[in-house]
Amino acid sequence: MTGHLARTDPEVAAMVERELERQRTTLQLIASENFASPAVLAAAGSVLTNKYSEGYPGKRYYGGNEVIDVVEALAIERAKELFGAAHANVQSHSGASANMAVYLALLEPGDRVMGMRLDQGGHLTHGSPVNASGILYDFVAYGVREDTEHLDYDHVRDVAMRERPKLIVAGATAYPRRIDFAAFRRIADECGAMLMVDAAHIMGLIAGGAHPSPVPHADVVTTTTHKTLRGPRGAMILCREELAARIDKAVFPGSQGGPLDHVVAAKAVCFHEAMQPEFKEYAAAVVENARALADALEDLGVRCVSGGTENHLVLADLRSLGVTGRDAEKFLDRAGISLNRNTIPNDPEPPLRASGVRLGTAAETTAGMGAAEMRSVAELIVRALKGGEDEIEPVRAEIRELTAHFPPYAEGIPLPQQT
Ligand SMILES: Cc1ncc(COP(=O)(O)O)c(C=O)c1O
Repeated sequence: MTGHLARTDPEVAAMVERELERQRTTLQLIASENFASPAVLAAAGSVLTNKYSEGYPGKRYYGGNEVIDVVEALAIERAKELFGAAHANVQSHSGASANMAVYLALLEPGDRVMGMRLDQGGHLTHGSPVNASGILYDFVAYGVREDTEHLDYDHVRDVAMRERPKLIVAGATAYPRRIDFAAFRRIADECGAMLMVDAAHIMGLIAGGAHPSPVPHADVVTTTTHKTLRGPRGAMILCREELAARIDKAVFPGSQGGPLDHVVAAKAVCFHEAMQPEFKEYAAAVVENARALADALEDLGVRCVSGGTENHLVLADLRSLGVTGRDAEKFLDRAGISLNRNTIPNDPEPPLRASGVRLGTAAETTAGMGAAEMRSVAELIVRALKGGEDEIEPVRAEIRELTAHFPPYAEGIPLPQQT
């Protein structure tokens, strides 16, 4: 610790070092996380944080934006090129802000919206009663089939035709299967709704060609930039040209002030990285690793919701091990495995306890792990959960050994505190 941060604020510098150490020596299986590249970190930690630039390129409410205009225009052009979109707004601070901006752009308070059941994979911002989406709009829900735990498009259509929503939200935070966006489009057209796809989790897979794209089908696509897409914390909105002005107005001045220009620059870097041929290989490996993890868990007697996975995440039903998701999450944390509890469809447990855990492969694939390591990971998880207290230290030691072979940032990080 010799850099500026360490000299100015050793307390915070020490925490950053500790967190880096935690990320390097424990397993990162939280499905919404990744290891952003050193280049993304460098842009996000740059002097662009100093600038105010309310407005859009060429139309700012502040002077001195000649550089920022170029940065934001570059991010927009790259986003459009990467995803084949007509329009991109790269200013959303987070996935939740992006979703609220879309609702503000397309709906009036009280309008009916249809989204995926939150206890079956939908996100908080898809109508939870404790979230502004559920407070301001009249959300109705569709779910998965009880037998297959896959989305049932006939059921989605039935709910849509009965409820006649103004907007349909497709996309999820914990759904391990591919989503058929063309089917959602047909349903939206039949019931006269607009279609928004929240692709936050799978956008990196889409960028790398490992999941079909919603862009040709949806009126609006929202996404975070920090999950499988592996960019900085933040989000963006893609839409059809006709909606561009409404979407931009809903982001600024509708729901945000000045953009985070350093993060916009980091998004531009992330899009550049996602355009490289290696990113295709990365996205394919993420999916392959998730499949290997699901197969290994099933071989070890742990049921995976929907029978497996087609994307970056696995929902494991832990009832055969006699442990709740909450207890597994806490216990595995102590063993050096970071994941989160998750409800399974028709969960007999309340959400705070939950019967399952959600595991994602985006981060450890970035660190270089492959299918063989996924098998070891499944074995370590099951061993820890079956073995109880006695297994915590031995499993933790093995995790330390495993992660030592796959260190994120092996080539160093140009973090501000180190320069
Ligand atoms: C599907 C989906 N949408 C939106 C969000 C919200 O993103 P953020 O945490 O950046 O607000 C998430 C985050 O987990 C998500 O999974």
